[in-house]
Amino acid sequence: MKLMVIGGGGREHALAWRLSKSARVQKVYVAPGNGGTALEPDLENVAIDAVKDPDGLVHFLKTNDIAFTVVGPEAPLAAGLVDRLEAEGLKVFGPCKAAAQLEASKDFAKQFMAKYNIPTAGYKTFTNSAEACDYATEQERRFPGLPIVIKADGLAAGKGVVVASSLQEAHQAIKDMLTGNKLGSAGARVVIEDFLQGEEASFMVVCDGQSAFALATSQDHKRIGDGDTGPNTGGMGAYSPAPVVTPKVYAQVMREVIRPALKGMQAEGTPYKGFLYAGLMIHNEQAKVVEFNCRMGDPETQPIMMRMKGDFASLLEAAIQGRLEQAESMADNLWDGRPAVGVVLAAANYPETPQLGDAIAGIPKDSPDTKVFHAGTSLSEQGLVSSGGRVLCVTALGGKLKEAQALAYKALGPIAYNGMQYRKDIGAKGIS
Ligand SMILES: Nc1ncnc2c1ncn2[C@@H]1O[C@H](COP(=O)(O)OP(=O)(O)OP(=O)(O)O)[C@@H](O)[C@H]1O
Ligand SMILES: [Mg+2]
Repeated sequence: MKLMVIGGGGREHALAWRLSKSARVQKVYVAPGNGGTALEPDLENVAIDAVKDPDGLVHFLKTNDIAFTVVGPEAPLAAGLVDRLEAEGLKVFGPCKAAAQLEASKDFAKQFMAKYNIPTAGYKTFTNSAEACDYATEQERRFPGLPIVIKADGLAAGKGVVVASSLQEAHQAIKDMLTGNKLGSAGARVVIEDFLQGEEASFMVVCDGQSAFALATSQDHKRIGDGDTGPNTGGMGAYSPAPVVTPKVYAQVMREVIRPALKGMQAEGTPYKGFLYAGLMIHNEQAKVVEFNCRMGDPETQPIMMRMKGDFASLLEAAIQGRLEQAESMADNLWDGRPAVGVVLAAANYPETPQLGDAIAGIPKDSPDTKVFHAGTSLSEQGLVSSGGRVLCVTALGGKLKEAQALAYKALGPIAYNGMQYRKDIGAKGIS
């Protein structure tokens, strides 16, 4: 069968590559894809923007006999691409627009979690700047010395959350969003949350509306600098599995987060089908939900796909067909037991104003235990050039996390482009 993956980042390169390894898959199209998917023998890029040109996409899917589509990023999900494809009778893996609100509206997600008793931080939502500022002042009094968390309600490409370390900074963030219109309509409502302490981890599941199939756990590295310093980014690296998700935490998350979320979405009349990502804060082996995303994480997907050795296409097909329960039997031999580490190579001046258009040299050939996933690259007449803030994700498997880490850093050694920057400590938290 032939499949379609929507998106063009590192996550989509990893998803499409893994799907193409399933025995029943002949070819995976990627729209629009990137320089890496262009170079893969079993993948083919299609120059269609799924958000701007859903008609073009529908036409392509119908005329090319695509068995099913997998939607990578949140924007097409929030725009209702799944609803559109299903209305055309096409098979697709991803949540409908109403279900994608779990990511697209922080206020929706908080109300939903409150209603279905899913553990998360306390919160209040505001549209009025003065009232929000008063509440922030109150928070400062209730929790002296703790940061105040200000979140834009809507999708803001990773720029919508301010963890303010002073009241002044909190007030500024509120004003920027509610009166300064800094994030447009995404910031027309703000959620103010209690600060959660602990260690973060990513918990992703495949859902078919009723059941959930847990993928390997992982941990992302959000800050630009070593030791978690500097501004937040889309993610500078990840590793899998995350030791902080102990068997006890895993069981708690399935029981208190994932199953209630699926039940709740059913009760709301919008059963959840697709990848569901719970961002967790774990303290004393108790997890609370920091956020839901309605897609896989990037870069967590890269090490997770590196570790998946089972038939990924059949797993997603089972989910589309609503028979995920039967897939439980696949769980045993689905994963490579070895850990994987993915190190993101970013552009100069990322995340503020990434420098684009630099020639990239020295990408090593894939080996059984190493793979370079592309994110912001494109294939031009001059060869491979950078075209996004995050350029590549060099991923490796190793017997121990330390070995995976060493192999990933060794593999990225020969890669060179102007202003290349990366963190030197990806995976360190899991080793200590
Ligand atoms: N209540 C909280 N307490 C402590 N830290 C928080 C809290 N909420 C958010 N954070 C920090 O801010 C980061 C971003 O928050 P959140 O995940 O809600 O935003 P996002 O923009 O949706 O992120 P993503 O791009 O991963 O989807 C979190 O990963 C976490 O480090
Ligand atoms: Mg999010």
